[in-house]
Amino acid sequence: MVKTDRDQIRVFAGRASRDLAESICAYMNVPLGQGHTDMFPDGELIVKIDEDVRGRDCYVVLSTHHPVNANLMELLIYIDCLRRASARRITAVVPYFGYARQDRKDEGRVPITAKLVANMLTAAGANRVITIDLHAAQIQGFFDIPVDHLVAAPVIIEHIESIRDQLGDIVLVSPDVGNVKTANAFATQLGGDLAIIDKRRKSGTEIESANLIGDVKGKTVLMVDDQVSTAGTMCGAAQMVMEYGATDVIAACSHPVLVGLAMERIQSSPISQLITTDTIPCGLRCEPIQEKLVVLSVAELLGEAISRIHENRSVSSLFKPGNSSKR
Ligand code: R5P
Repeated sequence: MVKTDRDQIRVFAGRASRDLAESICAYMNVPLGQGHTDMFPDGELIVKIDEDVRGRDCYVVLSTHHPVNANLMELLIYIDCLRRASARRITAVVPYFGYARQDRKDEGRVPITAKLVANMLTAAGANRVITIDLHAAQIQGFFDIPVDHLVAAPVIIEHIESIRDQLGDIVLVSPDVGNVKTANAFATQLGGDLAIIDKRRKSGTEIESANLIGDVKGKTVLMVDDQVSTAGTMCGAAQMVMEYGATDVIAACSHPVLVGLAMERIQSSPISQLITTDTIPCGLRCEPIQEKLVVLSVAELLGEAISRIHENRSVSSLFKPGNSSKR
């Protein structure tokens, strides 16, 4: 718990990130900002701030996960609302930044949606952004306002270190070539070997895991990725390493997107544990995989970052090795 100037700071929560925002406030020892979001019968949203924010340093916590568009719109409206209420500075705290996978034109006539979202947040009135494990680190450059890009790796590594004795020989497996840097950072920190799966993607939803580079025989495989979405990547890779003689598979990711066939796939996969964080709430939807799920909290990480920003102290010590951004 840190001591934070209660009068000058306000931390608000979008509906989908309320639990996380409450934990952040508990860590910072400040009350959750008073505000609420309502929906008109046609689906339009309205946000109302229920306390004075004039001249205050305001933070809005809301991940833009499923339903992505509704959460994004709520975040934009919250920011607009705070700007019109004369907040001194508005920081969008977006633990999971959606639309990040569309970060470049890799074929003709497609959008760069990550840039569009960056423009929208700035146009709405955000002065600063805090986020965790962007899908691609260069998305920071899409903003002309400061972005504090945090990493969940220290939180995940701390947990794995606490169970390290039970794991025996471990090998860190990158489920695709783009994630090697992260897997390598985990391997260095945890003292394991490294293996790589050369993943071939058939389409946005269909994966074909092709070649395994490295040795997993007789070892516990630890696989890390920035997010598990439909779980095709992780479960395909888990199946493959078991065929190559691994004894167990533990998967870890910063963001439990978990949509589509994810639950069924994880349930029936050889993955014994999925270690993740609360950047996206798991709640009831994750009940089918409850026995395999370990959810760690990033509340302390975010609370510490917010406190340091508010007090004009360095945030860089939170940027530890193991950044799971790709490319
Ligand atoms: C891909 O580049 C990402 O890091 C993840 O590997 C991917 O988003 C996971 O998607 P899915 O769970 O649908 O295979």
